[in-house]
Amino acid sequence: MLVLGIETSCDETAAALVADGKDILSNIVATQFDLLKKYGGVVPEIAARRHTELIGYTVEEALDKAGKTLDDVEAVAVSSMQGLIGCLMVGVAAAKSISYARGLPLIGVHHVEGHIFANRLSNPDLPFPHVCLTVSGGHTLLLYVKEESSYELLGTTLDDAAGEAFDKTAKFLGILYADRNTGGGRAIDELSRKGDRLAFNFPRPMLRNKTYDFSFSGLKTSVINMFKDRIAAGKKLPLADIAASFQEAVVDVLVVKTLRAADEYGMKAVSVTGGVSANSRLRSAFEDACAAKGVAVYFPSLSLCTDNAAMIAAAGHARLMRGEVSGLRLNVVPNSPLEGLDERDIN
Ligand code: KG4
Ligand code: ZN
Repeated sequence: MLVLGIETSCDETAAALVADGKDILSNIVATQFDLLKKYGGVVPEIAARRHTELIGYTVEEALDKAGKTLDDVEAVAVSSMQGLIGCLMVGVAAAKSISYARGLPLIGVHHVEGHIFANRLSNPDLPFPHVCLTVSGGHTLLLYVKEESSYELLGTTLDDAAGEAFDKTAKFLGILYADRNTGGGRAIDELSRKGDRLAFNFPRPMLRNKTYDFSFSGLKTSVINMFKDRIAAGKKLPLADIAASFQEAVVDVLVVKTLRAADEYGMKAVSVTGGVSANSRLRSAFEDACAAKGVAVYFPSLSLCTDNAAMIAAAGHARLMRGEVSGLRLNVVPNSPLEGLDERDIN
């Protein structure tokens, strides 16, 4: 079963061809790096307009790279839930057009479920049930995944998402957008390798709180306040140490809370996914903490951590195999909870 995946929920125009929900034949991501650089972040209206310019070429490139034509495609899966409304609409309109013109089944996919399937693509042996941490620019979700596509929300962020905290802190430190469209997260990750993660003791928000919720906006503010205090006192600003200490605080909270959830639910497997799961320190801290507790930890390969369409094709394939087809009345839902997706009508 060859599925064409389409992803336009934020600032990446992406198309991919995935066979049988597991073999990636092509995975094209056209970034809007030039626009991000110019405007210092995502401007929803401008991002949507750029999607309309890029979507046709991106789908064509995905077909070419895979050595396929539309005649070979058997279904179209598209991000239709969770994201910027105008951006989602471009992908859904493109997917509907192809579905209608070719008489192909259309499957609307929740963007976060796509991130969860990115880990399945990289680790076909990922067991159920498990605890899943999805950390990206738009989401911080701790989930109990009982079985395929069955999610119970354990906790979420009360303010900034983890990736958003990385992006805002990087922007403040003046290290935004190192070289590619991986946000400030990758810039902080790279700079942190030259820094001392114990140099500054930033707060670990919500660490001792009994819930599985997170909060990152206070942490970002304490970095800003410390930065300003040092300027006022005429002290040096060791950027690499600040970046590494900030990153360590985020990583600490994410690892401790996820493992606490795994412990409480008796889980022997943890899945970490989303753009922030590319973070090298997050990966090594999870590996060490999980090894100490005898818990297996799974990450997507680096190219599947950030937004892409292969993960959407894989999630769409799983739903199609269960007979869940959306139809041409598919609508976009910018804010859609992931929980209960298994019981909801995805039309
Ligand atoms: O999953 P994604 O592409 O988009 C959303 O669904 O939001 O995630 C993008 C986020 C950005 O906030 C970016 O800064 C972060 O992932 N990110 C990282 C790294 N690479 C990307 N954060 C920390 N370390 C990284 N290496
Ligand atoms: Zn995403």
